Amino acid sequence: MTGTVTPPLTNLADILAFHLDAGVDVALEDAPVDRFALAASAREARPAAAPVPAGAPPPRRSGTQAAPHTPRAPAAPSAAMPIPNLAAQPPDEAVMAAREAARSAASLDELRNILERFEGCPLKRTATRLVFADGNPAAKVMFVGEAPGRDEDAQGLPFVGRSGKLLDLMLGAIGLDRASAYIANVIPWRPPGNRTPTPQETAICLPFIRRQIELANPDILVCLGNPSAQTLLGVTEGITKTRGRFFAYDTGARTIKAIPTFHPAYLLRTPLGKRMVWRDLLEIEEALKEGAGQ
Ligand code: URA
Repeated sequence: MTGTVTPPLTNLADILAFHLDAGVDVALEDAPVDRFALAASAREARPAAAPVPAGAPPPRRSGTQAAPHTPRAPAAPSAAMPIPNLAAQPPDEAVMAAREAARSAASLDELRNILERFEGCPLKRTATRLVFADGNPAAKVMFVGEAPGRDEDAQGLPFVGRSGKLLDLMLGAIGLDRASAYIANVIPWRPPGNRTPTPQETAICLPFIRRQIELANPDILVCLGNPSAQTLLGVTEGITKTRGRFFAYDTGARTIKAIPTFHPAYLLRTPLGKRMVWRDLLEIEEALKEGAGQ
């Protein structure tokens, strides 16, 4: 059998598609930076080796004595190498500012406006727009995912891509839709290239999603996936252990039921998980019938 040979990328559209597939879909700078040229000039800037006096023994390359070390010149920052100022505030201050800002919101509209103006989270600078929520804020059930992806970032709405389509099917399975459910994410800005949010970014966003839950005041909170469950419920066990179990969630105003289940993106990769999600959905349906409270 002969192996397949991948043809070279021949045009810009192919190269762009390759970058998109690889998750490189965010411009971090206004102008391109030629990192090959920077590396070459850094090499040239290295101090030349001292001339070797005639008759001196050649430098040893092996054995017990280490070869003399020529320190590598650090690449000096230059106009061609802009340093993005991503940390507007020291991390702890950003978390404190987030807490204060979130607390000051008296309604969901105010919270959205505050988030639009909040500059303490570096993710805001690489995201296209805020992804605050979709659905009905007066719904009895609220679903919270991890963070927006590319489609959500483009449209400014959570769960509108492939996993959003599956979430709609999950809602439909128990007679819900976006008019009877409220949907948001722990992180309201898309991390560049869909990378995992850092613990620091999550800590900064946490007061906002907590306040969003408190203001929406659902009877049931559904955590979609492990990051949402661990962040909101403070559990350390993984999603395979926590899914399908009810936890007490203190909104700040009252205690409600919270239940983790698998994230629709996981179900797209692992369709067998749908069996378990079906059971979780039935639990959610039952709890909604029972009404508010623990
Ligand atoms: N995954 C999430 O966690 N949230 C979205 O909004 C989309 C995909």
